[in-house]
Amino acid sequence: MNKHNQLITSDDGSHTLISDQFGVSYHSTHGALQESITVFLAAGLHYARHNFISEIKVLEMGFGTGLNALLSLLEAEKYRKPIQYSTLEAYPIHIDQANALNYIEILNCSKFQNAFINMHTAESNQTIQLSNYFSFTKHITKIENFESEGKYNVVYYDAFAPTTQPELWDETMMKRIYDLLEDQAVFVSYCAKGSFKRALKAAGFVLEPLPGPPGKREMTRAIKNVISPR
Ligand SMILES: C[S@@+](CC[C@H](N)C(=O)[O-])C[C@H]1O[C@@H](n2cnc3c(N)ncnc32)[C@H](O)[C@@H]1O
Repeated sequence: MNKHNQLITSDDGSHTLISDQFGVSYHSTHGALQESITVFLAAGLHYARHNFISEIKVLEMGFGTGLNALLSLLEAEKYRKPIQYSTLEAYPIHIDQANALNYIEILNCSKFQNAFINMHTAESNQTIQLSNYFSFTKHITKIENFESEGKYNVVYYDAFAPTTQPELWDETMMKRIYDLLEDQAVFVSYCAKGSFKRALKAAGFVLEPLPGPPGKREMTRAIKNVISPR
């Protein structure tokens, strides 16, 4: 567990970490919370809530600080729409670092403080019910070694950038993700790099570029097997 990430405050007042191992930040320094809300919640989870009747099954690449997971829990409770949340993390942060993050305070949700800590202390591969509408499974593994038992209909692709970990953004990886998804599944990422978009297309996704969060012109939403209107 890495204890030496540096904690910083991003431009919207929410914390993020600078990875000691990779030398990059876990979120946009222009606003960690803004980025999570724009990319993963608004473009991904809200899309799913409006378009899927079935239960929402999220796969997150990169649990990190748990910000995306916490925001998703709050949404599940607000809309009373069940979410099964599965997240992958190869290098979990130390619990002292999780405790130092200001997300509970900034989101004004002390009711879910224990749930947030339980996410961080959860054992690998154990599904826990963290609130009425939110179940959570953390897989402590590299995505390269992940073998899924089920299929998903939402992907939050929140790996460190292609400049840092190019192997996580290529066609082989996108094809692996594609095969883990149900038809109509929605995939979202803050990244809009040309080579990544080409990899998604080659894997079979239909792309929808969207305006990015503060500091980023564009982000990516991609859908599996879109049914075209006749
Ligand atoms: C951009 S951060 C994720 C931020 C996170 N979603 C949040 O809300 O704080 C990327 C994460 O991917 C993890 N990671 C790096 N390489 C990985 C790999 N090969 N497999 C799984 N996780 C990995 C890092 O440890 C880091 O926590």
